[in-house]
Amino acid sequence: MSKHVVAAARDIPPGSRQLVTVKGRPIVVFNIRGEFFGVLNRCPHQGGPLAEGVLGGLVESSEPGQYRFSREGEILRCPWHGWEFDVRTGQSWCDPQKVTVRSYPVELTPGATIVEGPYVAETFPVSVEDQYVVVEV
Ligand code: FES
Repeated sequence: MSKHVVAAARDIPPGSRQLVTVKGRPIVVFNIRGEFFGVLNRCPHQGGPLAEGVLGGLVESSEPGQYRFSREGEILRCPWHGWEFDVRTGQSWCDPQKVTVRSYPVELTPGATIVEGPYVAETFPVSVEDQYVVVEV
């Protein structure tokens, strides 16, 4: 991997993002509360532009009627079909292939074991050096 300066840190303030190209790869750099993350601007489902996705949080439920919202701004929703990815790891949080209208037996299991999908968006290490945002590719 080699390091590439892609922007001055002040050009990507907290809560914003910037699409950059490194070695021909379109990478969207997110600044989430001062931490920087790089994600390939191509959804692993059908190639949607993740740079245009909405950042939300993680909603978990321990039982019907009980919800817990966490990790606000760290879950990226693809603008094309709504698949969600963890910006820190690229891990998907849904698997629409398993969603059907047919009914099946239901059982309770811990949320994290059933919502983690098989797809992972490609991510890149991002750091700040001398006030410049650096992406490793
Ligand atoms: S292209 Fe991203 S969810 Fe379909």
